[in-house]
Amino acid sequence: MLIFLIGFMGSGKSTAGRLLAGSLSYDFTDLDKLVEEREGMAITEIFARKGEDYFRESEAAVLKSLLDDDRMVIACGGGTPCFHDNMNKMKNAGVTVYLRVPPDVLARRLSGEKGVRPLIAGMKGARLKDHIRRLLAGREGWYRQSDIIFDAAGSGTGELISLLKPYLEQEGR
Ligand code: S3P
Repeated sequence: MLIFLIGFMGSGKSTAGRLLAGSLSYDFTDLDKLVEEREGMAITEIFARKGEDYFRESEAAVLKSLLDDDRMVIACGGGTPCFHDNMNKMKNAGVTVYLRVPPDVLARRLSGEKGVRPLIAGMKGARLKDHIRRLLAGREGWYRQSDIIFDAAGSGTGELISLLKPYLEQEGR
């Protein structure tokens, strides 16, 4: 079974993913990290030097390389489901989980950020909040196709595991 964690920047995909993988004795993988390893550059550098389209292609290629793996929790990037038919590929390969966090909470979490995420670099306050709302509104159509929509701001890993149980049992593990 592959478990894909999907959601906006700052929704806690990597943190939740690590906890979840630990509890299930699954491996954990962070898609952004794998793209950085493949390209030998940080995400910001890939965006700056090669552009977003190039990043999306690399991201899709790395995702594709994971689809035959097993017993793995994969923390996706915030845009992963929205490009290159990635959402369908993930839905066919495993269970998709949308970590839903309200835009105000995302804005609070992302406001202290120091240029790690190129899509919100240099933004803060009302401008950041506005940008998050607009980007999220454009992405929710993809995020909401997930098998599980999880209230990530108000619940913990135990609750997520309960929601995943039927999928794990179906796989016989
Ligand atoms: C992106 C989110 C980032 C990273 C890249 C683009 C996005 O991942 O993939 O900066 O399009 O939302 P996180 O969601 O892990 O920050």
